[in-house]
Amino acid sequence: MQYGHFDNASREYVITRPDTPLPWINYLGCEAYFGLISNTAGGYSFYRDARLRRLTRYRYNNAPFDVGGRYIYLRDDAADDAAGDFWSPSWQPARRALEDYTCRHGLGYTVIVSTHRGVEASTRYFVPLGENLEVWQLTVTNHRAEPAQLSVFSAIEFCLWDAQDDATNFQRNFNTGQVEVDAEAGVIYHKTEYRERRDHFAYFACSAPLAGFDTQREAFLGPYRGWDDPATVARGASFDSIAHGWQPMGSHHVKLTLQPGESRQIIFLLGYHENPADAKFDPPGSQTINKRTVKPIIAKYLDPTAADAAFAGLGAYWERTLGILQVATPDEHTDRMVNIWNAYQCMITFNMSRSASFFESGIGRGMGFRDSNQDLLGFVHMAPAWARERILDIAATQLPTGGAYHQYQPLTKRGNDAVGGNFNDDPLWLILGVAAYLKETGDWSILDAPVPYDNQPGTEMPLYEHLQRSIQYTLDRLGPHGLPLIGRADWNDCLNLNCFSTTPGESFQTTTNREGKVAESVFIGGLFVLAAKEMAQIANRKSQIADGRWQDAIRNTEYAVRNTQYADYARLAAEMEATVKAHGWDGAWFRRAYDAFGEPVGSAACDEGQIFIEPQGMCLMAGIGLEDGRAEQALAAVRERLATPHGIVLQQPAYSHYYLNLGEISTYPPGYKENAGIFCHTNPWIMIAETMAGHGDMALDYYLRINPSAREAISDVHRCEPYVYAQMIAGCDAPTHGEAKNSWLSGTAAWNYVAISQWILGIRPDYGGLKIAPVVPESWPGFTATRVFRGVTYHIAVRRAGPGNAVALRVDGQAVPGNAIPLPADDRTDVQVEAILGWTFSKTRLPFP
Ligand code: GLC
Ligand code: GLC
Repeated sequence: MQYGHFDNASREYVITRPDTPLPWINYLGCEAYFGLISNTAGGYSFYRDARLRRLTRYRYNNAPFDVGGRYIYLRDDAADDAAGDFWSPSWQPARRALEDYTCRHGLGYTVIVSTHRGVEASTRYFVPLGENLEVWQLTVTNHRAEPAQLSVFSAIEFCLWDAQDDATNFQRNFNTGQVEVDAEAGVIYHKTEYRERRDHFAYFACSAPLAGFDTQREAFLGPYRGWDDPATVARGASFDSIAHGWQPMGSHHVKLTLQPGESRQIIFLLGYHENPADAKFDPPGSQTINKRTVKPIIAKYLDPTAADAAFAGLGAYWERTLGILQVATPDEHTDRMVNIWNAYQCMITFNMSRSASFFESGIGRGMGFRDSNQDLLGFVHMAPAWARERILDIAATQLPTGGAYHQYQPLTKRGNDAVGGNFNDDPLWLILGVAAYLKETGDWSILDAPVPYDNQPGTEMPLYEHLQRSIQYTLDRLGPHGLPLIGRADWNDCLNLNCFSTTPGESFQTTTNREGKVAESVFIGGLFVLAAKEMAQIANRKSQIADGRWQDAIRNTEYAVRNTQYADYARLAAEMEATVKAHGWDGAWFRRAYDAFGEPVGSAACDEGQIFIEPQGMCLMAGIGLEDGRAEQALAAVRERLATPHGIVLQQPAYSHYYLNLGEISTYPPGYKENAGIFCHTNPWIMIAETMAGHGDMALDYYLRINPSAREAISDVHRCEPYVYAQMIAGCDAPTHGEAKNSWLSGTAAWNYVAISQWILGIRPDYGGLKIAPVVPESWPGFTATRVFRGVTYHIAVRRAGPGNAVALRVDGQAVPGNAIPLPADDRTDVQVEAILGWTFSKTRLPFP
């Protein structure tokens, strides 16, 4: 069953009934000001950091599930009923019957349109580029045969900035709330704590003359009443309340009389503004906000012409950004996800990391070291300058040992001590992130950028040295089999082999670990091989490892790394590969790990958890076993033991009880999350492995099992949004097999994008240029693509001539050897590429006429 449909031409998902199985959300903003918005206008806004600069309040895990948002109420002032007839055009929170409800989630904006008794309301919500505010453009149209006398009420609830404190520290917070109201101008200012150390405030403005306003929640709602039935709206008049403590909110009241057929637009703005510390008040010495710099911004966007122009600017931005890769294939789900939604989700995960969604509360987690490096893989081509900045930010949190804080705070960009470290895979992901950046941009200068360790001034070293220390960090931590020690955990945060936690509620992420130097990770072994191979390539291409300026500095640090060269990295990769084959191979698949007693995890010898997806994916992506049949065996084992119609589960059999020696993985009931859930992040690793083994049909089959668009028809089973990936789909052991959870913020976005675009469609940036190496289904006659790469637009046409994946290339009419397009030697900006697939070299002539 479906709750809407895709509108590809306008790059929107159109939800046609408000009672979706879960709130289906979208994001507003792509720079510094962000908002989450559901299909019933629920959600909240923040500036940069969802915890520390929260503008509006939101209560997670509420009942109803999604209440609190950017609300508008309409009231029929002429209705017979004494309490008036009022409704929410976004359905929530009043939930009165609506005709023709649609919610269009687009790229950076959402439009909700509905009609109630002949009065249509359309609200477009978006954040203009370059501004720290959101625009709500409300258009009300009277389709009745007689005039309509209406009241419009807006409503938001301010958060007292720190969302964590806001939700817990009531003895203080019920006293601090302060507002200012400029009723003439229609602006409500929220200035809690502005009197002391904050230089920022929020504002909520309205373009129409006000009939009234409210800023005290309890006055607006009335005692013991909720957002579904506010006293103000029911009686049709504001209280003009001023908040002193308690819960400051913002509500405007506008009266409208519309003739038959008449439309009126009202604009609301919600924004964030900073003043210089020495110019906070006007007049100086008063307690009144200095509004000199904010007023022109408010005035600008209350003008519909400026608002429309800003909206057009947003559209042009996305047109440009998505234009970097567009494809036309025989599969509509592939096209839709690659061209629009998966790319969009990659941008959102890059911005939000794992902080703010309807499953991540915005107060719990900063930016993950490993997560952010992976998010970059799906995003670097769309905003290389942001990617460069992100890489340097992440690297600056690296510890001098080469280790990493597991997370860092987006506002301060400092490593977060409270979340700990010693996830031994973390540092290696930095190499993958940097490699992706180099391949996309060819900007080798990044390797020389001075970057400190642990943000300590004076510790700056070239980025390249950070990568070297990442490798060294693993080499310094090898276990009894010569495999990397797992530390607290590896990619699987929940495989806690040194934890042995017996205390209820204790955090597996931060509790003191045993320092047994026994538990090893085959997965990190595979990741190390992949990273060391990248390092070999990087070292090979970087003519000078470090210039004289850096050489001495590098030699003199406590954690000096060897001046490792190409050959060393290639040797290190080969040695680890041999170790993985010797001690990480179980006979028919790769083992997962060795526990703190040296016993295998993910082996046929285990009672449960005999085979895991992660080492199959990672070892094969590193190329281990591609030559000797192990890859085929491992992939067959995945197919037989882990693949389900809803995707590939993490491991089998699921853990039926808690294992002290395995940790959090066995805390989840079977089929959920890390205990044999379909952890969608890992599925693309197998898709990539299938392409490396040459199996295009299998790769696309796996791709479509979890592709959200391909699952749209089973929305009542899947339940999450059909336009973005969720982190998890319940596995075959779960009573709710097929049900997705934790949509939006997951490494799933980037990895699926990489799998489909770079490996299945095979349009793959490499150090020396763009490669064309599709591994697509045999039944595909071909596909076309446009890819902007290092300033050149490549128009690519792939045509199948026969079975198999061999490629013959012709670039601007010239046959070129191999599958890499040479970078144009002249200033050509458009290049035509023809790729003939399935052409065998036994044929004597090139397949071109
Ligand atoms: C979550 C984390 C990620 C981790 C994964 C598996 O997605 O954000 O870092 O790798 O879970 O545990
Ligand atoms: C829990 C989740 C895991 C996530 C971790 C992050 O362990 O199961 O997916 O990575 O929390 O804190």
